Amino acid sequence: MIRARIISTGSYLPEKIISNHDIEKIVDTSDEWIVERTGIRERRMAADDEAASDLAYHASVSALKKAHLKARDIDLIIVATVTGDMPFPSTACLLQARLGAKNAAAFDLNAACSGFVYGMHIAQGMIKSGMHNRILLVGTEVLSRFIDWDDRSTCILFGDGAGAVIMEPTKEKRGVYSTHIYSDGSLSDLISLPGGGSRNPCTRETMLKTLHSIKMKGNETFKVAVRTLEELATYTLAENGIDPSQLSLLMPHQANLRIIQATAKRLNLPMEKVFLNLEKYGNTSAASIPIVLDEAVASGKVKDGDYLLLEAFGGGLTWASALVRW
Ligand code: UT7
Repeated sequence: MIRARIISTGSYLPEKIISNHDIEKIVDTSDEWIVERTGIRERRMAADDEAASDLAYHASVSALKKAHLKARDIDLIIVATVTGDMPFPSTACLLQARLGAKNAAAFDLNAACSGFVYGMHIAQGMIKSGMHNRILLVGTEVLSRFIDWDDRSTCILFGDGAGAVIMEPTKEKRGVYSTHIYSDGSLSDLISLPGGGSRNPCTRETMLKTLHSIKMKGNETFKVAVRTLEELATYTLAENGIDPSQLSLLMPHQANLRIIQATAKRLNLPMEKVFLNLEKYGNTSAASIPIVLDEAVASGKVKDGDYLLLEAFGGGLTWASALVRW
């Protein structure tokens, strides 16, 4: 049986750190409130000359180096992002050019915070079917460019970053065991960036209405996220006949510590088995899970044969999970 396997990981976080105390100086909030309600203490912000493809480039170079591969060894590049360099060409094509990945087709994928796990779904399908052999899958976001710094309910949440993995086929008893993707477009108004597309192209009016920044009905989103992710995690394990006690690590999308704790509680999973980095980076949307993966692998917490559960929830609405045996 052919499965898709992650053979290497990489990530890149911009240098500039914005702490909760920095945000206290901009809006009426406090470090205490942000930590208590979200678990976030700081986030990264891209430099003025850095766009999504630049962050993606650094994460990809790291993943390629670790796999001892050249960019020309890649035959497909998928970039999950909602903050690409521009509407077109795709960030994936810009990345392909910068890497010199001449043998790769390249496209972007928009599933907001679930984008990376959606990408895993597509990548594993491509690999299992034999259509592609070595895929570079990237999640990259520069959300700081789309934040309304007057809106305390959203400006505290998001950060910039990128993560990348390389996937290829294996006949071993490891790799991606299953992926599950879902959407509910009827709840699209819960998280959105309404301006800049064909519905609300950029005008003076859309600028004044701050339509070019992220809007979120936080509390409503929170409730749907908790319910959905609890069900998703339970279902994903059951589909694979895996008891939660067999799980080595839960790798959740890093949006809110309370959402993550609820999922862990539902699985009866001690928090030591949950990989967290939202304290340092906040919510990096599609980049969140590949950054978690890279940091978890680098920390030595991921061992051969480990079962890993990846799960994400975000705008669309979309939600997705993957069960991986390392
Ligand atoms: O990645 C995509 C998926 N995204 C998510 O899953 C995010 C889901 N939502 C959340 O993480 C949480 O809803 C938030 C962290 C955004 C907000 O936490 P909450 O516990 O749901 O707070 P709330 O929106 O119900 O607001 C409670 C109070 C309000 O004040 P009143 O009306 O009770 O007087 C807000 O105005 O907290 C106030 N508030 C703040 N206070 C201080 C909202 N933002 C802030 C703030 N600092 N930054």
